[in-house]
Amino acid sequence: MTKVLINEKLVEENEANVPYNDRGYNFGDGIYEYVRVYNNRLFTARPHFERLLRSADEIGLELNYTVDGLIELVQELISANKVVTGGVYIQVTRGVAPRDHAFPTPSVQPMITGFTKSYDRPYKNLEEGINAVTTEDIRWLRCDIKSLNLLGNVLAKEYATKYNAQEAIQHRGDTVTEGSSSNAYAIKDGAIYTHPTNNLILNGITRKVIKEIAESNDIPFKEEAFSVDFLKQADEVIVSSTSIEVMPVVKLNGENVGDGQVGPITKKLQEGFTNYIENNEEIAQEINR
Ligand code: PDD
Repeated sequence: MTKVLINEKLVEENEANVPYNDRGYNFGDGIYEYVRVYNNRLFTARPHFERLLRSADEIGLELNYTVDGLIELVQELISANKVVTGGVYIQVTRGVAPRDHAFPTPSVQPMITGFTKSYDRPYKNLEEGINAVTTEDIRWLRCDIKSLNLLGNVLAKEYATKYNAQEAIQHRGDTVTEGSSSNAYAIKDGAIYTHPTNNLILNGITRKVIKEIAESNDIPFKEEAFSVDFLKQADEVIVSSTSIEVMPVVKLNGENVGDGQVGPITKKLQEGFTNYIENNEEIAQEINR
């Protein structure tokens, strides 16, 4: 039977419940992380949990855990569920309290839940690329916080699904921000362009890895805002995340990106990413510099 983490206990999936007055349920008042598992090992867990603690801090949620404590907690869960390749979600809400917008006083214990998924690397899409559509970014102005409030992202992804695309690349006015559940990149004349890390995008851990790979291959990595037209005229387009890695976009709004094939810089980054996975242990430290 699959186990789920509820606070510090591992419980059977069919016995796992959260109360109706949990603030995550009533307000989306919480944060989360998603960490990949390759070959039984957590991948880049340290920066993921540092980001979780940062998200908690940014919303004034007191989380009495260290990065190591969090790693230990999810490690137990992935071992119990024998996850070889997959991932682990961890959600933290401000806890259970009578419904009132303001924080509960005195504060209550945060609610921590976690569950695993087992699935392989998305080999076919990595090789062939995916379709994406562009859509207006209607989210709030703190997209740097990995909040449980994902309605804007959900609506963007649903829009993509409706148009037979796997991802929606969002733009605020004319400025491309990020995908509905990924960071977005345009490659033009040998350089990679991506939105700078500020309040308008999530500072992706996969993005950090891509930046390192680009730099070690002397590929310029430009953290600059760019327009929707620039994206449409790019030689190559990528979206990246913990689950989809370095994912080529070969069709944008139904039109070919470049020649409609996975491009050479994308392939170079994918190769580098596979090396990162294979050297998982060293990377966990390296990415943390
Ligand atoms: N999403 N931007 C958004 C809005 C995201 O939701 C994600 C990840 C990313 C990429 O971040 P990272 O490389 O750290 O995974 C960027 C995860 C996979 C999810 O919600 O399932």
